[in-house]
Parts: sequence; structure tokens; C-alpha cells
Amino acid sequence: MTTPILIAVDGPAASGKGTLASLLAADYGLPFLDTGLLYRAAGHLAHVRNIDPAVAATLIDAQVLADEALRGREAGERASQVAALPEVRAALFKYQQDFANQSTGAVLDGRDIGTVIAPNARVKLFVTARPEVRAERRWKQLVQINPALTLEEVLSDIRIRDARDSGRSDAPLEMAKDALLLDTSDLGIDTAIATARSLVKSRL
Ligand code: CDP
Repeated sequence: MTTPILIAVDGPAASGKGTLASLLAADYGLPFLDTGLLYRAAGHLAHVRNIDPAVAATLIDAQVLADEALRGREAGERASQVAALPEVRAALFKYQQDFANQSTGAVLDGRDIGTVIAPNARVKLFVTARPEVRAERRWKQLVQINPALTLEEVLSDIRIRDARDSGRSDAPLEMAKDALLLDTSDLGIDTAIATARSLVKSRL
């Protein structure tokens, strides 16, 4: 029996990790989990229902995850705030670990996949880019739903989120020692995809 392929993709906000992770999942026919969506859902639910974020984390279901509001700017900020709470991370831990360890193999993207959720992953990518580049990419997405949003506001959000995600004591954003670094700052989307594919191949 061959060992299932488990791919961990981590990196800061708007680095392109989600796009790359979902393509890699399609390449290898693996189930894919965007773990950021879980934190977005916990933060959003806690806000709209005015409940404890750790309780909100236990109430996430398919309907909550389909809410378009989770893609917005506020949801990203709230996600990063609740993600700093150890009891929220603990509430989401088992679901993510079970997803990673399913017999089919899996691809997960997030901040702590290669370090905490799946330290045994066969392939670990750390996808990053300069903050200015990430801000521009994210701004182009968000301005579609909020035409008044400025690039400066998005850059400021990204810097605050980077500092909070990297500075928290529980599962901070950091590159696993055995991860492969992919800086997409100066890469077009096609080159970023091709590079991610060859990095993965080099580990399989
Ligand atoms: O899409 P983007 O990179 O902006 O963010 P995301 O992946 O949806 O994650 C939103 C927030 O959730 C991040 O800023 C982190 O604070 C948190 N998060 C985390 O702590 N651990 C993860 N595995 C995934 C996300």
C-alpha cells in the first residue's frame, strides 16, 4: 500500500496559498480544506450571534461555511482576532487533524498546518510574497464588493494581520523547518503554479 499524499500549504494573508493549494488538490485528486474559512466562520458567528468565539467554533456547519460574508474584509480581521485565542484553536483542532489524516490523503492550507495540524505532512509549502504585492492582489478582489476601499487600507489590514498572526503565542504563523519556500512576489500566476507543482514533485 502506498502512503497517502498529505500536502500542507501555509503562508500569510493573500499570498496565493489558497489558489495554489486547491490546484494541487485537483492535480492529485485529493480532498482540500481551506482552514482559514473555519476561523472566518468562528469569528463571524461569534459576532452576529454575540456568543463566545470558542462556542461559535463548535457550531460551524456547511450552511455557515457557505455564507458570502466570510469572504469579506471584516471576516478576515475577525478571523485573525479569534485565531489568537487558544480555546478557539483547540475547538477546531480535531476536525482539521482528522481531515489531514484521512486515508485518501489531503491538502490543507492555513497558517499552522505544517507546524501543528500535520507536522508529519509529506510535502510542506510556505507560500509568501511582499506585503505590497499581497495588498494589491487582495484589494483587486475586495474592491469588487466595496468600491470605496483603498489600497492603503488593505495594506494596513495586511500588516496588522501579519503582525498578529506571527506574534501570537499559540500556533503562530511560521515556516516549518522542513517546508519549501515559494515567494510569489515576482511571479505571474502561471509561473507560481508551475513552481508549486515542481516543488511538490521534488518531495514525492
Ligand atoms: O485568505 P487569507 O489569507 O486572508 O486568510 P485566511 O486564510 O482565510 O485566514 C484568516 C485568518 O485566520 C488568518 O489571518 C489567521 O489569523 C487565521 N488562521 C489561523 O490562525 N490558522 C489557520 N490554519 C488558518 C487561518
